[in-house]
Amino acid sequence: MKTISLESRILVYENRDEVPSDIQMLLAEAEQAATRAYARYSHFQVGAAILMNNGQVVTGSNQENAVYPCGLCAERNAAFAASARFPEVPFSRIAITAINPVETLKVPVSPCGSCRQVLFEYEQKFGQPIEVILSGQEGPIYHLRSVADLLPYTFSADFLP
Ligand code: THU
Repeated sequence: MKTISLESRILVYENRDEVPSDIQMLLAEAEQAATRAYARYSHFQVGAAILMNNGQVVTGSNQENAVYPCGLCAERNAAFAASARFPEVPFSRIAITAINPVETLKVPVSPCGSCRQVLFEYEQKFGQPIEVILSGQEGPIYHLRSVADLLPYTFSADFLP
């Protein structure tokens, strides 16, 4: 018997002024996107901004519905829009942030499992890691080298016949 350890590495920027300016710009796009959320039920507004290899930025925000499961997260709205608009262009980076109107979010938002799975699909499709930048309204910013770091031992097309 043996144990396998899976490691994820996160680069932490403790101060916002340490964050490289190109990442700050993408985060600013995600912050803007969060203000466009339709979060009538949770009131938790999430924004995502994807930088494509061609330099285009595609954003998304969470869109909710009275039939709760019909709503969709910001990350998937951004990823599906990006792929629909530029089907052959890899994703270079995604920045994700959120606004909690009740209590300022002081830790980086963490994407849900379904969004991790969806982002991983595009990482695998293009064979190019997608950097992930996570932010709250205040506090540290996390920078991961790839979606695989958020979703180790992932189910993927490799398992399928
Ligand atoms: N949400 C996102 O958009 N992204 C995340 O990473 C976490 C959760 C949304 C879904 C729902 O509209 C609201 O936040 C509360 O779960």
